[in-house]
Parts: sequence; structure tokens; C-alpha cells
Amino acid sequence: MHGTVSDTDGDRAWVFGYGSLIYKVDFPILDRAEARIDGWARRFWQGSHDHRGTPESPGRVLTLVRSPGTRCRGVAYRVSHEVFDHLDHREKNGYARYRLPMEMLDHEVSTTEGVIYVAEEGNPAWLGPAPIDEMARHIATSEGPSGPNADYLHRLADALRERDEVDEHVFELDRRVRALRGESA
Ligand code: SIN
Repeated sequence: MHGTVSDTDGDRAWVFGYGSLIYKVDFPILDRAEARIDGWARRFWQGSHDHRGTPESPGRVLTLVRSPGTRCRGVAYRVSHEVFDHLDHREKNGYARYRLPMEMLDHEVSTTEGVIYVAEEGNPAWLGPAPIDEMARHIATSEGPSGPNADYLHRLADALRERDEVDEHVFELDRRVRALRGESA
């Protein structure tokens, strides 16, 4: 891992969201910025027992993998320390906190460090890579307490399109899952 396992510094910290944290902000924020990190790519390789699937039938959600040369666009939120209790609970299914440098795209601070939640290979909910059609079928048919797995994917794809951000891993799955569910993009 490039960063180090992190706690927050002082009573507030930046958090970088690359998945559901981009579009589902169910916590108080002090500030926010469009942001990106270098050398990481999104992958639907993490199982979800608690949000988009169940322990018997886990869904597929995002983690980040090392990918030199890839830039991952997301959103940075400035939050107070207490918010990490909520985030740690929300991301408890295999994610750990790391600290990474991030580039701020529309903020007076141009670079800073942020906390990210990454699910690494070998965690108890890890699913790993699979053929794209298999991952699409899996996402199209999974559901958990937070709703259909497909909604997680489509909301993320929509959020990236709104930012003119191209992520072919996400967009290819988005197209295939919409086709499987008989929806148009
Ligand atoms: C994130 O959004 O930054 C973490 C992964 C997720 O909750 O989808």
C-alpha cells in the first residue's frame, strides 16, 4: 500500500470519496472540493454483505487498486473527527483507512492529504476480479439493505458523467447492467 494506515489529524480531516461517498453524503461536512488521486483505479472487486448484498449473497462494490498512470477523480470532504465513527461503521465491511496525497481541483488548497477507505485483497469480504459479463450479472441481480446493487453502479456512473470523467471499468459495467435489466442509459 502506498499510504499508511491513518487516523485523523487533530479534530478535522479531509476524506476522499471515490464510490458511494461521491453521491451519498449522509454526514455533516465543513468544506468540500472536487479532487483526484494519482496511481489508483476503481474496481468492483469488493463484496458487500451489509449494503448492496447479504452475507449469503454478497453484492459487488468498489475498492481501489494500484494502477500507475491512472488518475481517479472523486470528491474531498472536510469533516470533523466525530464523523469517522459514522464513516467507519458505513465502511466496516472490509475497508481500512489510509492516508494519501490528493489534488484539489477547485479549492484554494491545491494539494493536501486525505483519508481514503480501501478494501484490500484478502479482507473477509474480498471477491476479486471476474469476467466482465459475470460481474455485470452479479450486480444486476444483487440487492441488500441499502437497495439494489445496480443503483450503486448507476448512481456512480451518473456522478462521473456529470464530471465528464471517463472510467471504462465503471461505464462498461453500467452499460451491461442496464442492458440486462432492460433499461437504457
Ligand atoms: C468510497 O466511496 O470512497 C468508498 C467506497 C464506497 O463506499 O463505495
